[in-house]
Amino acid sequence: MRATPASLASEPDLAAAEPFSERLLAWYQHAGRHALPWKVDPTPYRVWLSEIMLQQTQVSTVLKYFDRFTTRFPDLQTLAESEEDAVLAAWTGLGYYRRARNLWRAARQVADEHGGQFPDSIEALQDLPGIGRSTAGAILALAFDQRATILDGNVKRVLCRIHGITEWPGKREIEQRLWRLAESHTPASDVAAYTQAIMDLGAKLCTRRNPACEECPVRDLCAARSLGLTGQIPAPAPRARLPERDACMLVVEDSNGHVLLERRPEQGVWGGLWCFPEYPDSEDPKVAVQRLADCPETVMLMREQMRHQFTHYRLNLTLCHVRIPDRAPLQVGERSLDWFAPEELSTVGLAAPVVRFLKPTRQH
Ligand code: ADE
Repeated sequence: MRATPASLASEPDLAAAEPFSERLLAWYQHAGRHALPWKVDPTPYRVWLSEIMLQQTQVSTVLKYFDRFTTRFPDLQTLAESEEDAVLAAWTGLGYYRRARNLWRAARQVADEHGGQFPDSIEALQDLPGIGRSTAGAILALAFDQRATILDGNVKRVLCRIHGITEWPGKREIEQRLWRLAESHTPASDVAAYTQAIMDLGAKLCTRRNPACEECPVRDLCAARSLGLTGQIPAPAPRARLPERDACMLVVEDSNGHVLLERRPEQGVWGGLWCFPEYPDSEDPKVAVQRLADCPETVMLMREQMRHQFTHYRLNLTLCHVRIPDRAPLQVGERSLDWFAPEELSTVGLAAPVVRFLKPTRQH
């Protein structure tokens, strides 16, 4: 039995790591992906290259590129001695070209600083461009069979479900907890097989949508399954808070229910639609009305707040509703202003605030 590290004392013990890793290993023997080219011949160079290619690309796509790339650059020495452009050319079609540039720089660094031998310590690996903690762990585990830990997207999903972690795995504390859990599950031996096994489990059974729980070798340990939360775990990233903008509009109505609208410029928000005229926040609404229509008597009815969500920002609208005695002559000038009788409103294109204001029960 492997001793449980003290730092894990507060984590729920899944009857320890052994049953989990043993079951995964047994499942991997018959159901894992053993024919992957970086698995068949797992030299550090090939494992590293595959891990970099797999960072943003699916296995099915990587297979073709891996073959082409290793034919053109069969070993680290060849890669280090090549021109950057030649490496980028071989990467063409894989996307995320920063990966290719880092690959080439890392090859030169290994050639210069490590005599062309891939380093086998987590620190030296993480010192290479493009290699983070999980990729370094994968290289150590898959190529050197060292007891090292990975935590890529697949593994995060598996562990969040097994441990019933309902918070977003990208959150700092959750990620730290996942690293501790990943370490606690990693067995002392058979690390290469275990590492491939947990990735394969995530890719083949414990998929984001429609996971194949009935086939899963660790289903009876899975908290998400027993809580009926498989569909909710892992939690998606919280939506970024959108920037906010403020605007003020005048809802000017006369005693017969005519409303004053302005046609918005073609370019921009609600382009070409009829909307309540905007006025500067700093201006007294009564003064703002008098700049639009020739009417000395203005009655303030109410102020209303309205929020409108665009893709890239949120608009906080203040609608100032005023009544004037009769349809006053307009001070049109450059502006495209007009009075609309209630029955005329359905004959023109109306901007969202107007639609919402006029039909408050039907929120658009
Ligand atoms: N994704 C990242 N590393 C992988 C590997 N070694 N096999 C399959 N998918 C992976």
